[in-house]
Amino acid sequence: MGSAPAKVVLLGEHFVVHGTGALLCAINKRVRVTADIRGDTIRIRSALGDAVLGPGEALPAGHPLGPLAHLAARAISRFGHKGGLEIAVESEIPPGVGLGSSSACCVAAAGALRGLFADPDRADSMAAALEAERTAFGAASGADSAACTYGGIIEYDSISGHHTVEGPLLRLAVADSGRAHSTAEVVRKVDGFRRDNGAEFADLCKKVSGLIPRARAAIEGGDLEGLGSCMSENQECLDRIGVSDGVLRSMVRAGDGPSYGAKVTGAGDGGCVIALADEECIGRVVESLGAASEGSFAASVDPSGLDTF
Ligand code: MEV
Repeated sequence: MGSAPAKVVLLGEHFVVHGTGALLCAINKRVRVTADIRGDTIRIRSALGDAVLGPGEALPAGHPLGPLAHLAARAISRFGHKGGLEIAVESEIPPGVGLGSSSACCVAAAGALRGLFADPDRADSMAAALEAERTAFGAASGADSAACTYGGIIEYDSISGHHTVEGPLLRLAVADSGRAHSTAEVVRKVDGFRRDNGAEFADLCKKVSGLIPRARAAIEGGDLEGLGSCMSENQECLDRIGVSDGVLRSMVRAGDGPSYGAKVTGAGDGGCVIALADEECIGRVVESLGAASEGSFAASVDPSGLDTF
């Protein structure tokens, strides 16, 4: 069995695909994957659908179960397994709304499959999960896979990888716009913005790069006002690149009032908004965001990492 948490991006989504850093954290919703040696096919069961693949068969490009099929085929060839595999997914993480459902599923499946044949190894499971996502969906910075693998709060960039950030327990309100997105499509759209607006995009990357150390210092110092204002400044950058629309902006406004700062999280163009809260205001923030969205919930971020959830 493998298990991994959902994630939110505190700062730097999209810009991290183009070389900036990002800050992410795991939240207390999980996916659990069991893997068994069974039969002579690859059989996958999940809320996204079921699939049965004979030897050498693959799913069509873009199929939502593509990354899991890739991971199973990779495990069979890597560990010289002669029979079939059965993978079953149970998830508390809604798909396509920026909470890392796909990455968490891949990380949990990679861990479960590795566990059938070898000792656990988080770095190896993360690498396998990221390869599966890139093969199925195209460009991914690796930030989501790192957050779902290591949990807690992390700083990530695609050159130096992930670093844990120490800080207090964080409380976040998470609200769903009710509109699912395809991360790969939104990443392609932002790349179009970058091509058409090179100088402005470079300025925005510089601005986000400057926010990361400020936000990291705020987390380490327990300064929620400082972190919240970095999140609000990041939201302005997301607005500029066109991944926040009227609905998301009104959710951000509803979150902003009673919280320390609010922003779109993940790919945007639908998906979720997060607002930074504390124990005292979390109820009000969840309520205010709930009234402006299709549903909201209170999340906890345990900076000590995923095993404690
Ligand atoms: C999605 O959670 C984060 C993006 O930056 C994509 C990525 O980093 O691969 C939009």
